[in-house]
Amino acid sequence: MTMCQDNEALKLMVQEALQYTPYGKVADYIPALSRENPGTLSLAVSESGTTCATAGDTSEMFTLQSISKVITLALALMDQGEEGVFSRVGMEPTGDPFNSIIKLETHSPSKPLNPMINAGALAVTSMLQGSTVDEKLGRLLTFIHELTGNTSITYNEEVARSEYDTADLNRSLAFFLKQHQVIEGDVENLLELYTKQCAIEVNCQDLAKMAYVIANRGIHTASDRPVIPLHIARIIKTFMVTCGMYNASGEFAIKVGVPAKSGVSGGIMASIPHKAGIGIYGPALDEKGNSIAGMKLLESLSQRYDLSIF
Ligand code: DON
Repeated sequence: MTMCQDNEALKLMVQEALQYTPYGKVADYIPALSRENPGTLSLAVSESGTTCATAGDTSEMFTLQSISKVITLALALMDQGEEGVFSRVGMEPTGDPFNSIIKLETHSPSKPLNPMINAGALAVTSMLQGSTVDEKLGRLLTFIHELTGNTSITYNEEVARSEYDTADLNRSLAFFLKQHQVIEGDVENLLELYTKQCAIEVNCQDLAKMAYVIANRGIHTASDRPVIPLHIARIIKTFMVTCGMYNASGEFAIKVGVPAKSGVSGGIMASIPHKAGIGIYGPALDEKGNSIAGMKLLESLSQRYDLSIF
């Protein structure tokens, strides 16, 4: 049985995973995120491009945060090619927290180890084509509209502003990268674009549809057209496996075994190659910044539907 044929079981699994929310905490280092409701969990599944099963309140909106790193990476690879992107950011997991600065200094050259940590994502965002912040953000939003089929998606100004005003660690990372010629241009413009990109607002159904395109080798089923070139869809799925859950990626690969990317808003986007896209929202986070109930839910889904790619 596929997940979509089993909607009642999905609802039960969401109920079970909800029990874990009291053990997590909402992110509060971005002040606007501290107002999220920690006791909620929702799930949407897409097995063909549209969502075919949901559980919980999937109309709730949340910001992409680090999930956006996957999308900007795809766009930067389409803009600059593999050589351009990987001359400024590496391909190796770090084993460190997502906002860590330490390996920038201890590694030479000091290019960030991968595009999923904040330092690497800042470098990737700096490579998006466009002459102004608005133009680059507009291109990113258009890309997300194509992936989801939802042209009303935009960014949450309050969340973007709240992060921009408090992003001193990310600012430090960006200045460090500029000093070492990994990025060029104005750091404040980069921070503005990065915080707006992280504040792009979706619901679980949008996330599931985006995840499905990535799972389906970059092809949008409605139009039967590649939105992401095949080799780029493969690269981003591989980063989701090796670095998508930060310093929990190894344990996640063993327990769940699917390409996935989390964000500190509590979203998780999982792409099961050739099978399904999953969107989850559960804002109570574990100590590594991943949705605590969302991780449990993915573990149950993987066991019941034999989703592991390994
Ligand atoms: O840069 C930041 O810290 C946030 N905008 C995104 C971090 C994040 O989502 C990490 N994910 N678990």
